[in-house]
Amino acid sequence: MSDTTVRLLDGGEGVLNNVFSPYADYFIDMLSQRNSFIATEPVGIYESQVKHYICQDYFNDEQKDLWKKIPQFIAPIQALENIGDFITVDYQGRVPMIVSKVDNDRCTVFENVCPHRGARLENHTEGCKKAFVCPYHSWSFSHQGHLIAARWREAFPEIPDQYRSLNSISAQQRFGMLWQIPSDPKLDFSLDNWFAAIEDQISAIDFEQHQLLNSRERMVQANWKLLIENFIEYYHVQSLHRKSLAPTLNGQLYSLDSFAQHGRILTPLKNLAQVLQQTPHKIRREMVATYLLFPNVIIGVQPYHVFVSFYHPVSANQTWSKTFNFIHKGDEEIKEVCQLDVEYLAEALEEDYEAIEQVQKNLETTSAPSLLYGEAESLISQLHRNLAAIFHPNGREANRHE
Ligand code: FES
Ligand SMILES: [Fe+2]
Repeated sequence: MSDTTVRLLDGGEGVLNNVFSPYADYFIDMLSQRNSFIATEPVGIYESQVKHYICQDYFNDEQKDLWKKIPQFIAPIQALENIGDFITVDYQGRVPMIVSKVDNDRCTVFENVCPHRGARLENHTEGCKKAFVCPYHSWSFSHQGHLIAARWREAFPEIPDQYRSLNSISAQQRFGMLWQIPSDPKLDFSLDNWFAAIEDQISAIDFEQHQLLNSRERMVQANWKLLIENFIEYYHVQSLHRKSLAPTLNGQLYSLDSFAQHGRILTPLKNLAQVLQQTPHKIRREMVATYLLFPNVIIGVQPYHVFVSFYHPVSANQTWSKTFNFIHKGDEEIKEVCQLDVEYLAEALEEDYEAIEQVQKNLETTSAPSLLYGEAESLISQLHRNLAAIFHPNGREANRHE
């Protein structure tokens, strides 16, 4: 797959085309030979225990033994252009955050909590400010998080250091997004190592050349793993999305690839073969890639937009989803087409969410102890094995987690 031809193109087709084009040839060959999915290697069937999706104790174990050990998505930072720009970020169960652009290349993340007596400091979702002024007693803090002034300063003979700055959250930038870094120094965590295997792939999307078009939020009444599982197989496309995606997406033929703990599905649209003959440089418009940034961030490369979906676990049966839609700056002239591409996908996504909410309800009442996954769903078994490796670093199997 490394024998790529470099083609420099407009409209977000450039580097990604190099990622896609060897697969395009491969898919064309496969289409003429057989009509089924591609798995990178035979992995057999896999069974996942129902209690992993419904049990609050298991959810609590995930809070303790999973999320604290891995980087957690915070937000994309495309909207933060100028020094002083900020956004607030709220995810249930996590401390509220302020992301502040502190210099030309860097954003800092603070707890959105006033150190004086714990009030919420900033209530706007975005803006540009020289100072954050607490609504409770009007202490003010710079965009770098330092105390500027305490009202009635003379009432405080001293202000110990811990009250003189906002609590900062350890965060690093990668792919135009901010990631909260595990705080336990014993873990000696490196974001470079975490993303090393998939760095080339995600960098090829070139988020720096994209602009945020819009975002959508939705509480889904389902366990977060059911949502992620749905994204990393296309086995359901021809059934569940019979009317929405199936007419354009091949759905029968796709590649499943792992990049360490991360994953990717790549599939052609139906007229790839024709387009390849006529205009080979349009490959990027005729394929779709879905990436899993382990374990709960999905990046979708669609013909006319790119989305980042973040699935934040709220409880065993509730997940907060937030999807950010981007278009390439080179596609500005065809923005309406890009918007249609976003709407088209949002409709299909709603079909997914409704189906998955039904699955969750069924799992809560079924007597069946487990679910079954075939080789067309092999990225799901890998997801569970990778989760188990974090839960049980000494090597117990995922489906034996108690
Ligand atoms: S809690 Fe913020 S100024 Fe008092
Ligand atoms: Fe779907």
